[in-house]
Amino acid sequence: MKNFWQELPKPIYALAPMAGITDSAFRQIAKQFGADVVYGEMASAAGLVYNPKKTLALLEFAEIERPYVVQLFGAKPEHFVQALRLVDQKITARQSGGRPDGIDINFGCPVKKVARQGAGAVLMNDFKLAREIIKAVLANTSLPVSIKIRARVGTISALDFLKNLADLDIKAVMIHGRTMAQGNSGAVDWKIIKQARPLVEGVLLANGGVGTRGGASVARDDARDLLKKTGADGIGIGQGALGKPWIFENVKSQISKVKTKEEIFKIILKHARLVNKLKGDSGIVAMRKHLCWYVSGLPTARALREKLVKVENFNDIKKILR
Ligand SMILES: Cc1cc2nc3c(=O)[nH]c(=O)nc-3n(C[C@H](O)[C@H](O)[C@H](O)COP(=O)(O)O)c2cc1C
Repeated sequence: MKNFWQELPKPIYALAPMAGITDSAFRQIAKQFGADVVYGEMASAAGLVYNPKKTLALLEFAEIERPYVVQLFGAKPEHFVQALRLVDQKITARQSGGRPDGIDINFGCPVKKVARQGAGAVLMNDFKLAREIIKAVLANTSLPVSIKIRARVGTISALDFLKNLADLDIKAVMIHGRTMAQGNSGAVDWKIIKQARPLVEGVLLANGGVGTRGGASVARDDARDLLKKTGADGIGIGQGALGKPWIFENVKSQISKVKTKEEIFKIILKHARLVNKLKGDSGIVAMRKHLCWYVSGLPTARALREKLVKVENFNDIKKILR
């Protein structure tokens, strides 16, 4: 299987994985605005083994999303092995039947529910098990394997962790420049990402804080600044894409045109139409948060939000935006 990471033009702008957010509809929208690679919502390897139907539904994708990376989290190598078998057999693009483009392993999630299972960021403290998991994944997929890690978990830094993996065929590493204790906000340690550069043979993506303050031109400056300071091949954008998936257009172009209300409404309808098609009314209800983010910069945000938090179906959204 080809290593798509090597073929992406640099700098690479990736939609970072976000549980409850980066579903197929959102990934399609981000892709249309120029995301070079999109990560899915993290999926539990154990969930795939014990409750495959629900977890497989989370991983479905459309051809237009390519390159699309499936992210798995878990604490047991054998769960990853079985999960990969399922991903391999069951996850195919809706239109073409083709397979996903890559497999990512989550070593960054700080959420208690995940940490209690011994999965996510806490694995950075367990070199032996982390290696076993990566080796099991490498041995059981022909897709390129990447990892997503944190700057630091307790006393272990990203550098310690990467040194322990130097011999493994990892094609890409996304480093979220915050500690596990910081969660998803606060200062980003770009120095540690820079120091990691020589330790990553494949693609290095820096992540954290791009587009989370200011407008389009600030996002572009943040992105360039992070690339320059870290020497990374690209960046991962997470929260900066919430309510503005066009951030990829902003960071890639010289022109930072502000979206008009009409343009934003059009994007909302496109996004909602996709959600409606893929998930129906329950998807629309779950999409309320996106609707609020989309309108948050508008002068009428408050009045709109009051209505948008109550939508039950696609027609409700249409009526409000009309
Ligand atoms: C709501 C939410 C869900 C997230 N889910 C995941 C996930 O499933 N897998 C993962 O590796 N990181 C996850 N993250 C972390 C992001 O990928 C990213 O590393 C983090 O938000 C920092 O980048 P940012 O400052 O650009 O948002 C999540 C973050 C948020 C805010």
